Amino acid sequence: MSNPAFISLSRVSKSYDGAQYVVDDLNLDVSKGEFLSLLGPSGSGKTTTLMMLAGFETPTHGEIRLDGRRLDDKPPHQRDIGMVFQNYALFPHLTIAENVAFPLSVRHVSRAEQKARVKRALDMIELPHLANRRPAQLSGGQQQRVALARALVFEPSVVLMDEPLGALDKRLRETMQYEIMRLHRELSLTIVYVTHDQAEALTMSDRVAVFSDGRIQQAATPSELYENAQNAFVANFVGENNGLTGRVVTAGEGWATLALSDGSVIRGRCEHGLRAGDDAMLALRPERAHIPSAEGTQASTRADEHNNVVRARVEERVYCGDHHRVHLKLGSRDSIVVKVPNTQRHALPSPGSTIEIAWRHDDCKILAMTAPRSAPAMPVSAPPSPSIITTAPAGAN
Ligand SMILES: Nc1ncnc2c1ncn2[C@@H]1O[C@H](COP(=O)(O)OP(=O)(O)OP(=O)(O)O)[C@@H](O)[C@H]1O
Ligand SMILES: [Mg+2]
Repeated sequence: MSNPAFISLSRVSKSYDGAQYVVDDLNLDVSKGEFLSLLGPSGSGKTTTLMMLAGFETPTHGEIRLDGRRLDDKPPHQRDIGMVFQNYALFPHLTIAENVAFPLSVRHVSRAEQKARVKRALDMIELPHLANRRPAQLSGGQQQRVALARALVFEPSVVLMDEPLGALDKRLRETMQYEIMRLHRELSLTIVYVTHDQAEALTMSDRVAVFSDGRIQQAATPSELYENAQNAFVANFVGENNGLTGRVVTAGEGWATLALSDGSVIRGRCEHGLRAGDDAMLALRPERAHIPSAEGTQASTRADEHNNVVRARVEERVYCGDHHRVHLKLGSRDSIVVKVPNTQRHALPSPGSTIEIAWRHDDCKILAMTAPRSAPAMPVSAPPSPSIITTAPAGAN
């Protein structure tokens, strides 16, 4: 990345119990104005990472810098960081205007200035008419907008969001996603956004850091993650994947061949370090595989210098409107799904028939299997981490 790091986490680890790291040797740079998402399964350390950035938790090891200055010793309200949590966490006894004014009053901003800024913030979220209501009198989406206004009102340089749309229904979620993207653009905010929803991460972010077991598996742009996953975890977690397993036959110079369970050998891109004899996974997106006989194209069905071709038995066809999903069986063990665009030009193969599936070598990757990693034990001598201020609003997870 060309921009210097604005937020920098360097070798950051966190243990709550002195026995296991839930964040493990994390290195991550975020540039100014970037929208970075932390994406990963439950328990992978996303919230813990955000809490360390916000100052509600301290790292057990490592350091965090904002604009070149160490953050670790600063309490949350001195960090120039706004936060939005999943459950709004508005103060129920305060009005909407008072809620939005809260970060200003703890920062001793003058009354007149508070009033002007609260008005601007409520205008921004298009709710100025609700200023005197209490949170319970607002819908979920409106409350989440207020939470957003409260995080932005003191003009922080960084906004952290922890699953801010998790409690909203699908339609409202999408509206709020655009709202947040608009604010990010218009206010040139730096946003670190936690979600376990990969579609949300891919559509909103400049870059996504994929977490598993307290580690970043890959941090890259959405298209890079989708097209060029670096390991099996990322390929399976981001987007839909046909993860057929097999054994590496040859590997070198960015290309490998893989023997699948039915004996067919396919070719694809690979990462450095893969070796002949390794167990590996084919990463193939369902829309990159083709059923030439169903498309009526002149596409080659021969395995050649560009194409892989395998034979498979059709198990099921599912109509999905704009496409069909064809479920197939390769040999006796492996299942494979092919997405066929619905052009209505050609008949799909019938269940029970055996057909050829083709895909380009450069449309698939052969990835090392990442063995499930148990969380590492801490060195015996490491002291338990002190429990730090937990002034996060109720509902922060
Ligand atoms: N205050 C705490 N004390 C002890 N353990 C904790 C604490 N907070 C989190 N953990 C543990 O740390 C690990 C990481 O939790 P974290 O909340 O960071 O995960 P997450 O990625 O945000 O998950 P989710 O998607 O479910 O919110 C989990 O195993 C969790 O049980
Ligand atoms: Mg969480």
